[in-house]
Amino acid sequence: MSAILFRRFLANPMKVAYMLPSSKALVKRVLDKMDFSAARVVVEFGAGEGCFTRELATRLGPEARLLVYELDPHLADHLREQFADDDRVQIFAEDAAGFRNALRDLGTLGSGGADCVISGIPLSYLEPKKKKALLHAVHEDLAPGGRFIAYQVTPELKVHTRMFAEYKMEYFLPNLPPMFIQVCRKAPARERIADTPGKSRVA
Ligand SMILES: C[S@@+](CC[C@H](N)C(=O)[O-])C[C@H]1O[C@@H](n2cnc3c(N)ncnc32)[C@H](O)[C@@H]1O
Repeated sequence: MSAILFRRFLANPMKVAYMLPSSKALVKRVLDKMDFSAARVVVEFGAGEGCFTRELATRLGPEARLLVYELDPHLADHLREQFADDDRVQIFAEDAAGFRNALRDLGTLGSGGADCVISGIPLSYLEPKKKKALLHAVHEDLAPGGRFIAYQVTPELKVHTRMFAEYKMEYFLPNLPPMFIQVCRKAPARERIADTPGKSRVA
């Protein structure tokens, strides 16, 4: 068990919500859902002590940018120490909802938006209005064909992500606790679901 995680969990159990980092198997399974070698901009919500962030940094190319959100300031400092020498990685000790500002500052939205948003935050704890706003913002700020990948203990996202063209879910046991990995894909530019009568998304 990571000592910093245990301390932060005891300090704020409802927000930090976990004591064990995700397993290596879960990190691999989630990140294998997409080829990150060509990604330009990736956003991570709820990085914790950094198990996904470290693996993402090894998969991303030299020109990519990784915007990382971690609400707990102590965990965010721990992340900053790990990535102090990596100019591609920016750590924000903020609510994930602030990601749009960073994308705007990067000038990414003008050139299409983020390629992927990965979320480890317990979305099921968010109040419904906040969750709705966050998921709509993610959809809006993803590039056409971009992916929103969330891992959490509940499979509730299907009903909240109808604006995406595709939704896929996998229950993954080799993690404590087991996780639902949910992948939502935004329609490519020429295949917006609203423009395609009769087209339904994959479940
Ligand atoms: C279940 S842990 C996942 C941590 C890590 N990604 C892993 O897989 O081991 C969730 C993390 O999200 C952070 N968090 C919770 N709500 C958040 C929010 N609204 N914005 C940013 N981070 C948040 C918590 O502080 C915690 O570190």
